[in-house]
Amino acid sequence: MTFLRQLLFIGIATVASMATTSKAAQSASAIDGYDLFPAQVSENGFVTAQERVAAEVGRDILAAGGNAVDAAVATGFALAVTHPQAGNLGGGGFMMVYLAEENRAVAIDFREMAPAGATRDMYLDQNGDADFATSQFSHLSAGVPGSVMGLVYALETYGTMSLREVIAPAILLAARGFEVTYAYEASLAEYRSGLLIDQSSVEYFLEGLDGEAYRVGDIVVQKDLARTLRDISREGAKGFYEGRVAELIVAEMERGGGLITLDDLATYRVIEREPVYGIYRGYEIVAMPPPSSGGIHIIQMLNILEGYEDLTALGHNSADYIHRLVEAMRRAYADRSQYLGDPDYYAVPTAALTDKAYAEELRSTINLRRANKSLDIRPGLDLPAESPQTTHYSVMDAEGNTVAVATTLNFSFGSGYSVDGAGFLLNNEMDDFSAKPGAPNGYGLIGGTANAIEAGKRPLSSMSPTIVLKGGKPFLVTGSRGGSTIITTVLQVILNVIEFDMNVEEASRAPRIHHQWLPDVVVLEPGVSNDTQAILRDRGFDIRVLGDDLQLGFLQGRIGRTQTIMYDDGYYYSSSDPRGSRGYSATY
Ligand code: DON
Repeated sequence: MTFLRQLLFIGIATVASMATTSKAAQSASAIDGYDLFPAQVSENGFVTAQERVAAEVGRDILAAGGNAVDAAVATGFALAVTHPQAGNLGGGGFMMVYLAEENRAVAIDFREMAPAGATRDMYLDQNGDADFATSQFSHLSAGVPGSVMGLVYALETYGTMSLREVIAPAILLAARGFEVTYAYEASLAEYRSGLLIDQSSVEYFLEGLDGEAYRVGDIVVQKDLARTLRDISREGAKGFYEGRVAELIVAEMERGGGLITLDDLATYRVIEREPVYGIYRGYEIVAMPPPSSGGIHIIQMLNILEGYEDLTALGHNSADYIHRLVEAMRRAYADRSQYLGDPDYYAVPTAALTDKAYAEELRSTINLRRANKSLDIRPGLDLPAESPQTTHYSVMDAEGNTVAVATTLNFSFGSGYSVDGAGFLLNNEMDDFSAKPGAPNGYGLIGGTANAIEAGKRPLSSMSPTIVLKGGKPFLVTGSRGGSTIITTVLQVILNVIEFDMNVEEASRAPRIHHQWLPDVVVLEPGVSNDTQAILRDRGFDIRVLGDDLQLGFLQGRIGRTQTIMYDDGYYYSSSDPRGSRGYSATY
């Protein structure tokens, strides 16, 4: 299809989809009859993302005959334009793909990489303390970006359309502009000070050229970004990792004292990895392997919880249920602090951590009358070594191909610095390394040798794109944003569906809890009753409700934000998490 025909087709598909919305996107209550919060339902699949226009771009690709990978890549590039908080060209991520015809899953790792000049102690000040201003808000906080190569690799390997076709909508959105939504305006208000540190960021994202902060209804035109996208459209990944754009990145590094060189960019590689697999009550969990910690620990926690046969009977978010969840989380995050890192640099004991017998051992240490203290729980001992092994969006197409993508700059708007002339933000993903053993990173997470900084290494992540199979076929695809809370969020969405029979809308809405070993506090979203909280406090848990003065800034007022699709008995159901600014589930 030519470029123009493609655009025309997308226009037609958009109109066509509006016309069919009432049939395809009718409420799930039409089928279930009694759901309090019905999910959206369709017979054709969904693209669900944190930003509506980008979800619709992917949906239009599905409607035009593309598969789930084509749609995911189109949405990924569109998010880089319309959701610059986390959609990106200057960051990285993970993609989990289930190929229906081949009946197999692959995990694509396009996580950022530490530049060749990175060293273990690069963020320590003269007193030997971790200097977070440098690891979070400087050119030195940027890892070598992986997003562009990740999206291009996925498309070339598993897609059916050309790069030109799937990137065209993003180019158009950058060149002609996208309309500022309430969500974007609110985000700018929240992160304004972070963007003010860099004149190009101010111009690209905060106020354009007229010096007035963007407001709802304004049009954000990104000419430099459009040019970068055109280079990628024409030359593929080379259009980013070599030539003009690469030189602009290096010039930006030289201006701001960063480390990324032309050689770092030219040698960046996407890595295809085997997913980690688990079984929970007969459902198969297909999850992201290291350098994500998500897959291993979701499976580890499910293994621990599977031993409680009465979980459903305890009742959702009852004190007894939360007690078991917290103790499973405590043990998993303790192990995370010691055993998880880039598997190409550290022998992550994946099989041992996801072993059911190990989970049973951990479960036997849980006291069901009293809270354990995190300082009494050390990372599991004597695990055999093994040789190597945020924004989330989900896609399911009508053939059952399923894609889960998490992509991030780390913090919203990354480091706050943009590549001048190229139109995109730099990530601050280097802060996901452990700058110093025992020093918490931006998400309060602690690490050691396994996640220490090394040249070429990828920082440990919590991003958890996850697919659940039922009878060997995709049943649920989900993932979340939210740093350290991603793992516990995805765990609870899976449990809500499998254990408590919730539809995906209810599974997304239900109040969540979070515990991450250290700090030793149980965080609850509002909605867990006071008497439940009182029982847990009596048992020795330090219970905090979001909205109190938690001093846990990394939680950003909520626990995760999910994008979920479920397939069951001929129908696709979807929910874009209502927390914060709701995203959008697009179908046709
Ligand atoms: O990879 C990670 O674990 C983090 N950099 C993810 C950041 C994130 O989820 C931001 N969204 N709130």
